[in-house]
Amino acid sequence: MLVLGIETTCDETAAAVVERHDDGRATVLANVVLSQIAEHAAFGGVVPEIAARAHVEALDLIIAAAMAEAGRDFGALDGVAAAAGPGLIGGVIVGLITAKAIALVHGKPLIAVNHLEAHALTARLTDGTPFPYCLFLASGGHTQIVAVRGVGDYVRLGTTRDDAIGEAFDKTAKLLGLGYPGGQRVEHEAARGDPSRFILPRPMIGRQDADFSLSGLKTALRLEAEKIAPLTDQDVADLCASFQGAVIEMVVDRLRRGLEVFRERFGAPSALVAAGGVAANQAIRAALLDLASQDQIALVVPPPSLCTDNAAMIAWAGAERLAHGLRDTLDTSPRARWPLDQVGKAAGTAGVPPALACPPAGRAGGRDARAPGAPTDGVSPNTAPSAVV
Ligand code: KG4
Ligand code: ZN
Repeated sequence: MLVLGIETTCDETAAAVVERHDDGRATVLANVVLSQIAEHAAFGGVVPEIAARAHVEALDLIIAAAMAEAGRDFGALDGVAAAAGPGLIGGVIVGLITAKAIALVHGKPLIAVNHLEAHALTARLTDGTPFPYCLFLASGGHTQIVAVRGVGDYVRLGTTRDDAIGEAFDKTAKLLGLGYPGGQRVEHEAARGDPSRFILPRPMIGRQDADFSLSGLKTALRLEAEKIAPLTDQDVADLCASFQGAVIEMVVDRLRRGLEVFRERFGAPSALVAAGGVAANQAIRAALLDLASQDQIALVVPPPSLCTDNAAMIAWAGAERLAHGLRDTLDTSPRARWPLDQVGKAAGTAGVPPALACPPAGRAGGRDARAPGAPTDGVSPNTAPSAVV
């Protein structure tokens, strides 16, 4: 099964071609990622309007490059998958509408993929990890522990009560003048810093739930930095190391608890899996390895290039859904918000009664509107194409 994947939810314009073999193994034939870092750097973060315009300018070339690298033409595809959310809505619209056009012109199924589901299933692309597994998903907008029980079957066991871990890395970088993107730069500085110099709080440690909280840590870091300003290079490195050390202790404690909750509710997971941009952090990966060996559970962490945003994971999630007979209609809406535990097996046409899948033209429907009685699966079946563009 050959699927083209398109990713445009944030600041990477990406296209990939992935083959899912009948035995469930995967071959990535092409995986092209164009980062917009240069466009956003001057602003210290992603500017949604600039991101959307940059996707428009680059996406067709990136798709052409991926198809050329894969050595296949559109006719050979079994499906076209695009991230339909969650993310910056301008970019999501660009990717989804492009996928719809390709699907329509070439008569191929469309798969509207949840970006978080794509992160969640990456371990199956890289390692063929069997269900069920315990997922630690840590990106710029999300920090969750999730029981991944099957395609479209996700139960959230823990989440952040305020900031996401990636967001906290980005804000730390900004506070310390390290610029954007923050995660890698904080990690780089932390490598030459002293993690014991500043005593920072370890929020949530020891609690019965499996939730996270980052805002207290962030404030404590700011206060420490203000106390000793102006900062030397060594101060910055020590602050980064102390921050990263506190994050790691919290992550390990929360995951230990998350694994207990998983076992209580669902039995033994096949593995602990990490996904999302934060999982590219080498110190976090090392801590996860320690945790997994103490817990005697297999650890699966995809290579950094497949942890940060990419289109191979979108193509793969599309292929997994397609293999289950799940596909989406051409009037599927892009979604800025789309929680992972609202992605259902019934998200595509397969689960939507025909009358709802093809609403009468001109029917009212906002981006998040649902037809009465339609499944609350996060994919709106009732938005007319004109409302999407
Ligand atoms: O998954 P991702 O590429 O995009 C989202 O879906 O958000 O994650 C991006 C986030 C950013 O907040 C970035 O700072 C963080 O992942 N990140 C890192 C590292 N590389 C990326 N955080 C810590 N250490 C890293 N090496
Ligand atoms: Zn992501």
